[in-house]
Amino acid sequence: MKRKTGHYVVTTTAGETVKAFVPDSLPPKPSLKLDAKISDALDSATLELGRLDVAANIVPNTDWFIYGFVRKEAVVTSQIEGYEPTLSDLLSWEAKSDRQEPGLDLKEVCNYLDALEYARAELANPRGLPISLRLLKQTHKRLMQGVRGAAKQPGHFRTSQNWIGGARPGNAAFVPPPPDKLTDCLDSLEKYIHKGNDLPKLVRIGLVHVQFETIHPFLDGNGRLGRLLIALLLEQWRLLSSPLLYISVYFKRNREEYYDRLASIRKDGDWEGWTLFFLEGVASMGREATVTAEELFKLLERDRLTLLGATNSSVSGLRLLDQLASHPYMTLSRAVQVLGTSKPTATKAMSLLAENGILREMDTEKRPRTFVYQEYIDLLKEDTERI
Ligand SMILES: Nc1ncnc2c1ncn2[C@@H]1O[C@H](COP(=O)(O)OP(=O)(O)OP(=O)(O)O)[C@@H](O)[C@H]1O
Ligand SMILES: [Mg+2]
Repeated sequence: MKRKTGHYVVTTTAGETVKAFVPDSLPPKPSLKLDAKISDALDSATLELGRLDVAANIVPNTDWFIYGFVRKEAVVTSQIEGYEPTLSDLLSWEAKSDRQEPGLDLKEVCNYLDALEYARAELANPRGLPISLRLLKQTHKRLMQGVRGAAKQPGHFRTSQNWIGGARPGNAAFVPPPPDKLTDCLDSLEKYIHKGNDLPKLVRIGLVHVQFETIHPFLDGNGRLGRLLIALLLEQWRLLSSPLLYISVYFKRNREEYYDRLASIRKDGDWEGWTLFFLEGVASMGREATVTAEELFKLLERDRLTLLGATNSSVSGLRLLDQLASHPYMTLSRAVQVLGTSKPTATKAMSLLAENGILREMDTEKRPRTFVYQEYIDLLKEDTERI
């Protein structure tokens, strides 16, 4: 179905006359057609999110998965634009007790973790900010602190015209609304988030993401913030009880199609095509995350049994194993810290895990000696390698 989703205004930027796109407010008009294909995709996306929630909640400690899955999302969302830290880079950096400031690439990943934590805390606090333009600005500020986009007004909506793709505005893939239209566009997006109840929540999350990208309210970081918004809405609207869906993996795998779908909404009003694409992504990432959660759980159970059967088994050894899910890189000082025991006890626990092939010493020359729970990382790291 062809539909009009906005209008163009002529504007001048960087010395060129261009046509900037001003999107109509959500919801799409005429209303989105939820045909059989979309309905099926919606059903399976909802089902997979439900399964993921169950899988995460049957383990003794959901934080196991939150730790790893949030970091996977953090790494991949920072990679989309071509930055290149890996999951191992992040996890091994986090293991260091004498941490220096991370390099620029890694700092971006850390910023994502910081921004997500900040926004979730606000939303969880009855006196905190709701999902709102203010929350988006505050979250953006954390996302962009001290990284490449730092000069581009972190935490502030843009006051100048920008463009996407292309070296100059004249050959841009897309010119978002002029700055004087931003307030109107953003206010109606905020209203839609709070009042729109025309469509299933999961479908609305997809629409909100696109609308945010199309408005492109910041000079940089719109992609990262728009993806983070998906995570926040999933949780806020109770489709998932913790941020376990690493949706950026799907966008990374289907990058060209993702951009094309965004463009077709502007050009042809194809909200249906986008919705199907988005729901299929949620379903497939939900399914993958559930499988990964189960595999991680099985691995931990297998290793627990190994330890229980070991001749020199110890309580601190078993406790250390529990800690590995959220500290897959381990040093002696870290073990002392997480176990709250003496050095000799922690040393024994580390040796027990190493003797049973659970922990492996990374680089025998390096000090402090660092051990890694490699099998755990291998399960988690799929799709997080450099592109
Ligand atoms: N043709 C398009 N129409 C609308 N939005 C687009 C289009 N092409 C890309 N985008 C959006 O713009 C985002 C990039 O914007 P920006 O550079 O501000 O964000 P970023 O976080 O720095 O980058 P990235 O998303 O690449 O990591 C893309 O992720 C995508 O969501
Ligand atoms: Mg950018």
